[in-house]
Amino acid sequence: MNDPRVALLIEFLRFPSVSTQTEHNQDLVDCAGWIRNRCEAIGLETRIIPTAGHPIVLAKSKPDPAKRTVLIYGHYDVQPPEPLEAWETPPFSPEIRNDRIYARGSTDNKGQILAHILGVEEALKRDGELPVNVIFLIEGEEEVGSTNLAAFLEANREELQCDVIVISDTGMAAHGCPTLSYALRGIAALELIVRGPSVDLHSGVFGGAVANPATAVARILSTLHNEDGHVMVEGFYDSVRPMADWERKAAAELPVTDDLVRELTGVSELFGEKGYSTSERVGARPTAEVNGVGGGYQGEGTKTVLPREAFAKLTFRLVPNQAPEEIIKLVEAHIRKHVPPGVTIEIIPGHGGEPYFFDPMSADGLAAQRALEQVFGKKTALMREGGSIPILTTFRNILGVDSILLALASPDCQAHGPNENFPIDNFLKGIELNQVALRELAKAKSA
Ligand code: BES
Ligand code: MN
Repeated sequence: MNDPRVALLIEFLRFPSVSTQTEHNQDLVDCAGWIRNRCEAIGLETRIIPTAGHPIVLAKSKPDPAKRTVLIYGHYDVQPPEPLEAWETPPFSPEIRNDRIYARGSTDNKGQILAHILGVEEALKRDGELPVNVIFLIEGEEEVGSTNLAAFLEANREELQCDVIVISDTGMAAHGCPTLSYALRGIAALELIVRGPSVDLHSGVFGGAVANPATAVARILSTLHNEDGHVMVEGFYDSVRPMADWERKAAAELPVTDDLVRELTGVSELFGEKGYSTSERVGARPTAEVNGVGGGYQGEGTKTVLPREAFAKLTFRLVPNQAPEEIIKLVEAHIRKHVPPGVTIEIIPGHGGEPYFFDPMSADGLAAQRALEQVFGKKTALMREGGSIPILTTFRNILGVDSILLALASPDCQAHGPNENFPIDNFLKGIELNQVALRELAKAKSA
């Protein structure tokens, strides 16, 4: 593969820009510098904005007041690559196998960002100008909650004024299926710590005399769902807006089968809230997930200990119109009601993010559908995405514009997992999609 565009992607993927690990701070700075150089090389006015965390890259085409302005958002930070031993080739030594490029960040989100930059480059070379004004806003803190981006948006509202935002950081319904993600789930996180005795105890000497915090965590967690997968937190579903008829129809038409999901996940049987299809459960229904649970002895062999404390880390995926702070309150009340005797608890609320929804039949939504159809040669699937990009609500609140989510990841790209990959074809189609989408969005002016 000696396509110079792929060679650039390989360079980009070599930066271990892991935003959660401070040892990589300089790698994020270097990676941001690399993006700046790319954007400058194609004639965009570019600068790096340092933040209290990782830098932001801002690049703009020469503004023409007669044109609409499209802001393209993405993130160059990546998730930690661990567990390293599960990778077939090292996460920051990109390798091409089976027409895919394997590296941490390839599908989340460097492949897509570079596709957009290269699309703009090709259009500028070919036409000498773009159909719209373009602003690239590429941040380095998406995977850690976009901590410093909101302040930057507030402070630079004028400069960032635009008509619409374009983001490629969601998944296609199936490989090769043009997909407009018209909703994202929100998120609310919390940690539960259960405490019992003041020190770890001998389970023979004190077992039977005092409550076991690990057992208490298990009891509490078991109250979160009933056997039909329904979340049992009182009021949890009160503000859930039911799917419209067209949405249920669009969900039923998605090329996502239960067999496929079973295959992708390696489970023998799917499970989730009764009364909804798999696509509906993932995109349009809220969930309660245990992300981690622990306490007591974790080493080799047995240890007869009664642990002094145990914990669980929870996240709730939310849908319109659930509010993260509201959900945290309801969950907290639920947990407090179900604490078994003999232990005390602490609840530490974590990060939150609002769910997102936009009308795929708006002028910009229709433009996006047309662009996807032209590039992939099929009818665009309309899909609610199960993942979260909390900054979208902040974009809407501060900049007053909607975000159009042009999916480019395939279902088996392994975002956040080992052997993360991005099909070369998705990358090349992404370069084309950028150009077609900007043309279509230019025409959608009469919105
Ligand atoms: N690109 C993802 C969002 C995403 C995930 C889109 C899955 C489509 C499918 C983004 O980088 C991400 O991982 N977001 C986090 C946000 C959280 C840490 C607040 C997520 O969804 O877990
Ligand atoms: Mn991610």
